[in-house]
Amino acid sequence: MNPLLTRLQAYPFEKLQQLKSGVVPPEQLTHIALSIGEPKHLPPGFVLKTLSENLDRLANYPTTKGLSELREAIAGWLERRFKLPAKIVDANENVLPVNGTREALFAIAQACIDSSQKDAKVLMPNPFYQIYEGAALLAGAEPVFLNCTKENNFHPDFSQVDEKTWQQCQLLYLCTPGNPTGAVLPLEKLKELIALSEQHDFIIASDECYSELYFDEQSPPAGLLQACAEMDICDFKNCLVFHSLSKRSNLPGLRSGFVAGDKNLINTFFKYRTYHGCAMPIPTQLASIAVWNDETHVLANRSAYREKFERVLHILDGCLALEKPDAGFYLWPETAQSDTEFAQKLYAEKNITVLPGSFLARETLEGNPGKQRVRMALVASLDECEQAALRIREFCGAGN
Ligand SMILES: Cc1ncc(COP(=O)(O)O)c(C=O)c1O
Repeated sequence: MNPLLTRLQAYPFEKLQQLKSGVVPPEQLTHIALSIGEPKHLPPGFVLKTLSENLDRLANYPTTKGLSELREAIAGWLERRFKLPAKIVDANENVLPVNGTREALFAIAQACIDSSQKDAKVLMPNPFYQIYEGAALLAGAEPVFLNCTKENNFHPDFSQVDEKTWQQCQLLYLCTPGNPTGAVLPLEKLKELIALSEQHDFIIASDECYSELYFDEQSPPAGLLQACAEMDICDFKNCLVFHSLSKRSNLPGLRSGFVAGDKNLINTFFKYRTYHGCAMPIPTQLASIAVWNDETHVLANRSAYREKFERVLHILDGCLALEKPDAGFYLWPETAQSDTEFAQKLYAEKNITVLPGSFLARETLEGNPGKQRVRMALVASLDECEQAALRIREFCGAGN
C-alpha cells in the first residue's frame, strides 16, 4: 500500500455522519440539508437534448485533449467573461477539458510536484476544499495552511508567509470565490500573488468554480488569467485556472470543467492525463460546448440565488452573526456555542443539517479558523431555504 494514504483525513461528510449518529430529529419536521454544496436549481434543458442527440458518439474513444470545438468554446468564454485581449487564450495550447474540477485539482499536484525535493510545500487557504490537502499529501508534499479569518476579510494573508516557505512552495491553491467563506480575491491581490510567484517560481492553481455565482451583475469576480493579462503576462507563466459547469450551470453530474493557463503546464498536465486516462466522453463534450456558449441560463441562475440570499438574510437578520458573502452559495455564520454542538443541536431540534466549520479547516498555531462557524449551502429551493431560515431563527431565539 502507498503509505501516504494513511495521511489522508476523513472527509468532512464522514465526520458529519458520526456527529449525527444516534441523534433523532423531530419526526414532524421534514429534513432540510444545508450541508452539501450540490446545486439543486434545474440545469438548462438543452443539455439533455444535446446529450440524447449524440449518444451514438459513445461508440468513439474520446481523446485527452478533447474536441477542438470544445477548447475553442472554452477559450471564447474565458475571453468574454474575463475581458481578455482577443486570441490571448490559444485553444490548442492553453486549454484542457477535465471531468469536473475535483479530479483536476487533485491531479495537477500529482503532475507538477517534484517530491524528490524533500521539503516540497503546497500552500492553501484554511478553511479549504479538502481535495487540495489530499492532493498535496499524495504528491509527497507538505500542506501549509493560510488562515482566512474575518480579520483578513477571509483572504489568505500572503505577507505572513516566510521566505523559506516561499522557497519551498511548489504549488499554491487559491479558491476565489471561496468555499466556504464566499470571499472574492480582488484583482490587486491576485496581481501581488503573481508577482510572488514570479519571484519564487511556484505554480498558482486558482479554483474559480464559484466565479459565476455573484450578486452584482456589474462586478463579476476577477480571475487569475485576467490579472495576468492586466500585468501583460500573456503566456500566463505558472498560472492555471480551474472552471466548472457544476455550479455555473447546475450540472454537477455532467462532470465537465476545464483547466486553462500556462502552456508548458498544460502540456505537462496533458502528458500526465494521457496516462491517467481521464478523457471526457464526446456527448458530454458536445453538451458542454452548448452550455459554455449560453449565458441566459446563468443569468437566471444568479437571479434565483440573489432572491434566496435576500430572503434568507432578511429572516436571519439579528439572530446569527453573519455577513452576506461576496459570491458563491454559502453562508458562513459564527455560532455562539461550538460549531459541532450547534450543528448537532440544530439537527436534533429542527431537523436541519449544517456542516461544522472545524471539519472544513485544520488546526494551526492560531487555532482552527472554522471553529465556531458553520457552513450553510443555500442550494435547496427558495421555499425550503426560507423554511430552514425560519427554523434557525426559532432555534437561535431559544438561546442557542
Ligand atoms: C471549492 C470547490 N472546488 C471544486 C469543486 C469541485 O467541483 P466539480 O468537480 O463539480 O467541478 C467543488 C465542489 O463542491 C468546490 O466546492
